Amino acid sequence: MLIRFMKNNLIRPSIVKMLAYTPGEQPRIPGLIKLNTNETPYPPSPKVARAIRRILNGSLRLYPDPVCLNLRAAIAKRYGFKIDEVFCGNGSDEILGACFRAFVDGGQVVQFPFPTYSLYPVLSKIHHARIREIPCGKDFSLALAQFDPRATLTFVANPNSPTGTLLSNAFLRKLARRLKGVLVIDEAYVDFAKSHALPLVRTEKNVIVTRTSSKSFALAGLRVGYAIGNRELIGALFKIKDSYNLDRLAQAAGQAAIEDIAYHRRLIKKVNRTREWCRRELIKRGWHTPPSEGNFLFTRPARHPAKKWLDILRKNKILIRWFEHPQIRDWLRISIGSDAEMRQLLKIVDKSN
Ligand SMILES: Cc1ncc(COP(=O)(O)O)c(C=O)c1O
Repeated sequence: MLIRFMKNNLIRPSIVKMLAYTPGEQPRIPGLIKLNTNETPYPPSPKVARAIRRILNGSLRLYPDPVCLNLRAAIAKRYGFKIDEVFCGNGSDEILGACFRAFVDGGQVVQFPFPTYSLYPVLSKIHHARIREIPCGKDFSLALAQFDPRATLTFVANPNSPTGTLLSNAFLRKLARRLKGVLVIDEAYVDFAKSHALPLVRTEKNVIVTRTSSKSFALAGLRVGYAIGNRELIGALFKIKDSYNLDRLAQAAGQAAIEDIAYHRRLIKKVNRTREWCRRELIKRGWHTPPSEGNFLFTRPARHPAKKWLDILRKNKILIRWFEHPQIRDWLRISIGSDAEMRQLLKIVDKSN
């Protein structure tokens, strides 16, 4: 009773009521095949380790560059933008939070589809936004008319997680033009997809594209995300950011990874090849597995309920993701691992299918 009393007085009521974001598990089990948080099974570019070593040998006692100039220059160069159109964050999660601080006042409407990245509702609650969830169709499709034009902020993960679906640029352009507020296109998985929305940044004044080095650059262990948008929107993010939001190691590693274009392309090709092979194998086994544009498959398994498969695989030291929600409780999200890891998964599937 006393603890309850204290909690209610010391902590904002909305935070007391709120359920925290639950990240995918990160267990330390020897031999575990980890296919639950869409990491990459391969190491980052060897140039990353070299860049980190240079920092360790020199400048760790000094604060990092507060505006990540070298990293932003590398991103701007690679994607053909100006430095002041690029913002860097401590993972793209930090940038998603920064968008609330920069664009949303308490009580304003923030919208996003369901199912999607489950951090959006959590951030909305922290920032006292009014949530508008847009239900996807049975095939996970969306219609323009479902989006409220008056929303202050709209998030679209593209490709979407967990579904792996991709909205076309034609759709996104129409959406941006329909909206009065800011449209954040969260492209965490876009390097595995067949199109990206950077061209919209040039034509649509209200679009910000966010990306991450956690997936296709194999750098989830360091926190490097970036956003590309027009100067006005990017300038607002700079105004509200923490002073030194990216440490020296992250900045140097991110730059090395972004600059090693050949390595990046090879890694994406390998993951996509495994994804397509694995999809065909699951389909052969009767698992309903639509095409995916991310480094994961969203699949409706045969024979047992999805939750049972989660448990069977876990017992065999393979971790995948299951979401307890009526619309998607029959589905599993499986990150694409190495060929050997996926073969092991199929072997366990074959034993119980
Ligand atoms: C759609 C989406 N956006 C953003 C992120 C966060 O990426 P980061 O590691 O850059 O914070 C994730 C992580 O899984 C994601 O699925």
